[in-house]
Amino acid sequence: MKFHSALLLLSTRALITNAELVTFKVLAVNGIPTLNINNEHHKMEAVPDNYPLYKISVNVDNFPVNYNYILNDGEKDKEEKEEFTRQRTKDEYALNEFFGRSVTIKEHPLLPKAYESFKYATQSKLFNDNYVATIVIKCDPEKLKSIHTDVKSKEKIDAEVIYANPYTIKTFKNAKLSLSGQSTVEVPKLSYKIKKLKDDKNKELFGRSSIKLRAEHMDPSMLREKIYTDVLNTLGVPTPQNTFARLFINGEPIGLFDLSDDVKNSRYLRETFNQGEKYKDNTLNPLFKGSRISSEGLYSNLGYYGEDVNQPVYSWVYDYKGEDKVLNKTQHIEKELIPFLKEIDDYKTHKSDNMPLEIDTFLRSLAMEFLGGGVDNYWANPGNFFVYKDAEKNQWFFQDCDFHYTFGVKWAEKQMLMTPLSKFPPSILEDDKDDKTRPPLDAILEHQEHKDKLNKIFERILKTSYHQNALFPRLESLTNLIREDAHWDVTLTRTNVNPTHGLQNVYTIDDFENEATSEKPDGFSGGYTLRYFIKTKATLLAEELNLTIPVDYESNLGYYENLSFNEDEDSDRSGSLKTISINIFTVLICYLVSILF
Ligand SMILES: *[C@@H]1O[C@H](CO)[C@@H](O)[C@H](O)[C@H]1NC(C)=O
Ligand SMILES: *[C@@H]1O[C@H](CO)[C@@H](O)[C@H](O)[C@H]1NC(C)=O
Ligand SMILES: *[C@@H]1O[C@H](CO)[C@@H](O)[C@H](O)[C@H]1NC(C)=O
Repeated sequence: MKFHSALLLLSTRALITNAELVTFKVLAVNGIPTLNINNEHHKMEAVPDNYPLYKISVNVDNFPVNYNYILNDGEKDKEEKEEFTRQRTKDEYALNEFFGRSVTIKEHPLLPKAYESFKYATQSKLFNDNYVATIVIKCDPEKLKSIHTDVKSKEKIDAEVIYANPYTIKTFKNAKLSLSGQSTVEVPKLSYKIKKLKDDKNKELFGRSSIKLRAEHMDPSMLREKIYTDVLNTLGVPTPQNTFARLFINGEPIGLFDLSDDVKNSRYLRETFNQGEKYKDNTLNPLFKGSRISSEGLYSNLGYYGEDVNQPVYSWVYDYKGEDKVLNKTQHIEKELIPFLKEIDDYKTHKSDNMPLEIDTFLRSLAMEFLGGGVDNYWANPGNFFVYKDAEKNQWFFQDCDFHYTFGVKWAEKQMLMTPLSKFPPSILEDDKDDKTRPPLDAILEHQEHKDKLNKIFERILKTSYHQNALFPRLESLTNLIREDAHWDVTLTRTNVNPTHGLQNVYTIDDFENEATSEKPDGFSGGYTLRYFIKTKATLLAEELNLTIPVDYESNLGYYENLSFNEDEDSDRSGSLKTISINIFTVLICYLVSILF
């Protein structure tokens, strides 16, 4: 009988107060979190095989419920309390929150499309930018120290990589970690590359088996690479994607990073150029990266310099990045790249009408380099791009990359902002010795129809995605998403043991705020702020092209994709729902039992 009255009590309480079992989930890399509701503390439990996720379900009487988390509750010197209040309404699903961050997901205003999306591309959910993802790496501390010390070694070390977002957690036990970048391996905040992202079931990370974590060490706003890519996406050009991630290695906080595509990754190429389909007969499409060796005055300007493959204008500045392992780099340059450059040259010298490089996407990419002030990109300073041949379509494509030296960051910032289109590219070097030839571009623009086309492209971008009323609200929303992580990032110890470059790039919270939100000119260390650059560039170009920018942007092609659309596939929502329905079921049974007795 005692049992029954207990049930009766429980069930009436549940019925009268409308209590509901609510699940709370939080990611905590170090320490054990406790849920705090009105000073009632509920210690949370680790979810098996889902580190760093902790979970608890408690009965909640009143909605919305206010709560937050405490780490290492009651432990002297180790206790950490969230200083803000979280809130859940009655029917909200439990997302994986992150300890110490009040923003879990944030919907951003979308950008209007200037052109239809690149028709061969499919999007990976990895680049849903409505949250900051979390990456937790475990590896041998000695080996980690060795890559942080001998930064040029290119060593890849074994690593367990955990990827977590508000909806899901994925673990990759046999991944490889290495440093990423060329000159950037010399700066204090190092960039990383993660490869072999295949889980126990051979599944990749949302269709990617390798990714980069770019430090963005030269950009106090942390936003340039992202917003540049956002605009590129509205131009319908093939481009590596990126989003934000916070990184921890062996329990240590490393910082906020730009999680970005690795262009060499065959999955990326297939999803960008072939709608995710495997190429027939396992065709190994040529892929080359262009670089620049400023000290030698060598640029990868896509010019044709004869058939001798061993010249530095080929062998020093182009790298084969395709999948073939049979032929070496020299042979690939000889067999694939030089004939391509020769065809461009034939088009230039009017020996042929065939331009092997796809013209529209090339011109749009370069238009964005101009508007975005890409001082480290092809038009201004040839390097940092890929050319890719889709053999099935018999078409070469230009693919831009590396957009952190953009939007007025300190480096020839005045030239990049002020040089009119008619005089572009500016001289980046003081002594004006820059080689200004850009063979494919020069050849294309010799045709009046293409010149007109480029002007039309500029006009279209200025009226759509580069319009302030489209770009600034999105920038503001992205700033609000990453603010807490950006403020955290500047407090962290950098991992490079002996940095030799970029030592001046030490930021404060104010630098982030100024760079990301101010419309005044003065950015970090003599550069321009992001918004001032955008605003001024648009005004200057509109003046030069005699355009009037309308008060409101045009959106007749709709908006660039909303990737949060299909998020529930991978989420744990069904689990949370079950908890609620079981609860209601239990209450009902209790009620029936209590009536019967
Ligand atoms: C590439 O292979 C060719 C043919 O085997 C050889 O002659 C050449 O030396 C190799 N080049 C390099 C850079 O290894
Ligand atoms: C813009 O207008 C000015 C003056 O009317 C003219 O000289 C210039 O050629 C025009 N520019 C373009 C790109 O049409
Ligand atoms: C994106 O999709 C989600 C889910 O359908 C929706 O809630 C959100 O409002 C959409 N965002 C925009 C800006 O359209």
